Amino acid sequence: MDLPSPSADRRFLLPFAGRSLSPPPVWLMRQAGRYLPEYRALRTKAGGFLELCYTPALAAEVTLQPIRRYGFDAAILFSDILVVPDALGQKVEFPEGEGPRLEPLRGAADLARLKRQATRPKFAAVCETVARLRQDLPHATALIGFCGAPWTVATYMVSGRGTPDQADARAWAYRDAEGFSNLISILTEASIDYLAMQAEAGADALQIFDTWAGSLPEDQFERWVIEPTRRMVSALKLRHAGVPIIGFPRGAGVRTTRYVHETGVDGVGCDTGMPLAQMAGLAEATAVQGNLDPLLLVAGGEALDRRVRAILEAMRTKRFVFNLGHGIVPETPPEHVARLVELVRKI
Ligand code: CP3
Repeated sequence: MDLPSPSADRRFLLPFAGRSLSPPPVWLMRQAGRYLPEYRALRTKAGGFLELCYTPALAAEVTLQPIRRYGFDAAILFSDILVVPDALGQKVEFPEGEGPRLEPLRGAADLARLKRQATRPKFAAVCETVARLRQDLPHATALIGFCGAPWTVATYMVSGRGTPDQADARAWAYRDAEGFSNLISILTEASIDYLAMQAEAGADALQIFDTWAGSLPEDQFERWVIEPTRRMVSALKLRHAGVPIIGFPRGAGVRTTRYVHETGVDGVGCDTGMPLAQMAGLAEATAVQGNLDPLLLVAGGEALDRRVRAILEAMRTKRFVFNLGHGIVPETPPEHVARLVELVRKI
């Protein structure tokens, strides 16, 4: 991969330029959020969750909270993958304690309600947070921008909520592949604009969250996961060649190798189910990030210590970024996160 040399003082970026570091850089998915008392306090004051995402001073503050506590090598912009449907004009709400609720899209006729041209003001508000953060973060801390992958975002748009099996989107894709492909194209183009704007505003790296990639059979995986992601990566590389892109095709298992080769991502996030030997193998082709079980961060103790050491040992000398296999859960004791960072940095 021909990435220009990143500023060597942001360690997080080096594995994406082919370097292996000891200790590896560390950050955690959902490192800002409800497990932190300072987040809960600010969240109560802010009102709605989307208002928090669109208010740069507050979103920047929430992004900085875990950096102050733990000194992670990277900060991730505080926002949500459902900002894209919201910006496209779909009704999106986050009722307290319930998970997201959207006005469901049931078929191709509903796509007329989405307004590609309307996204700019909301994307611009998020990018103001990015610009502010690049100023406020310590120089050595990298800033990760992100969006949801088209497939994963579509699953929420079609069902109107999170689902265990993504059945509504999968059924639409079989019933009316052309109509569903229009939805995926709208999301792909909006996501390219959104990530390009984040890179322009100062994001050092970009992550594409494909939380539900694992629910698709091989042919569907190729069409709805690999193809849109490849399109996003190639469009972003034209404009921002030096900004590494990390894909997170959760649940992709053995399909991860194809995903890496065919999308052109610079790094891949591995979920908790990925065997360490497969992770080490993937690191021959790309930078690898993962894959501690977030529930070990709830449990703590010997079990946490043992698994952190096993991951570090398997990925020693590899192009590796320490992370979880999925996001931190709200029940996590903050002191277990401190212990994790200490363990990773001790080697
Ligand atoms: O620290 C960070 O990681 C940055 C912010 C971030 C959030 N969501 C904040 C958030 C990121 C990167 C996301 C990504 C996201 N959002 C994904 C992909 C990654 C994954 O976890 O699989 C998905 C599927 C979503 C959609 C979403 N947003 C759900 C399902 C929920 C409700 C359930 C939950 O985990 O809380 C949200 C709400 C949300 N997004 C919260 C936060 C901190 C909690 C909202 C609150 O404070 O009330």
